[in-house]
Amino acid sequence: MWFYPKVLAHRGGGTLAPENTLAALRCGLRHGYRAVEFDVMLSKDSIPVLMHDSDFGRTVRGRGRVADTRAADLARLDAGSWFGAGFTGEPVPTYEQAVNFCKANGIWMNVEIKPSPGAEAETGRVVGEFTRRLFDAGDALPPLFSSFSFDALVAAKAAAPGIRRGFLADVIPPDWLDRLQALDAVALHTNQKHLLPERARAVKDAGYGLFCYTVNTPELAREILGWGVDAFCTDRIDLIGPDFAAG
Ligand code: G3P
Ligand code: MG
Repeated sequence: MWFYPKVLAHRGGGTLAPENTLAALRCGLRHGYRAVEFDVMLSKDSIPVLMHDSDFGRTVRGRGRVADTRAADLARLDAGSWFGAGFTGEPVPTYEQAVNFCKANGIWMNVEIKPSPGAEAETGRVVGEFTRRLFDAGDALPPLFSSFSFDALVAAKAAAPGIRRGFLADVIPPDWLDRLQALDAVALHTNQKHLLPERARAVKDAGYGLFCYTVNTPELAREILGWGVDAFCTDRIDLIGPDFAAG
């Protein structure tokens, strides 16, 4: 079962803006996207922030680790200049800021829980609690959680049983059905590179949603949708429109 949009902007704005920033979310919106995937990690003071890497250096200027840095200090770092001079000073947003932006603009979220090493259960718990609070008002369709970390999803489920989960796996493991059942998940999220049509069929026949990352050409999108894939995220929001149709 898949209850959500079909095409999502990966990391906010794909490769058109610095990933996991408010600038990325604005970019996705400008391209007509009302569905987004982003990554969420905990700061030192246990505030969820949008971030992919646990270490600075690639997208955040400087040296250090997200888990060793307070959210207020993360907000002062530069998460934009790696992408382009026009984005210099773009801050690391909190999850709450991103949710508020998405709610205000009618954007649905796939929240990928991305724990720093060793913080799997804690990250799942805190993101679960934040999400529960942020969507308490019932004013927006709650996000779908996903994670490569089974433990993070177990903790997210305990903290926010009403927020649905998808299990993320680069390569679908042999025990995928057990894992989905154990998590009471609604979907399997996987890398399109390793997906085979027979496996896609098996997941669909078992009654689960099937989501792929990262699909960057219309040809590939058509092919996997033809296999029964329900949804995907893309880096190429300029090539693949939010209303992309396989037919
Ligand atoms: O959630 C799908 C995809 O984002 C997983 O890989 O490394 O881009 O977070 P990554
Ligand atoms: Mg991700």
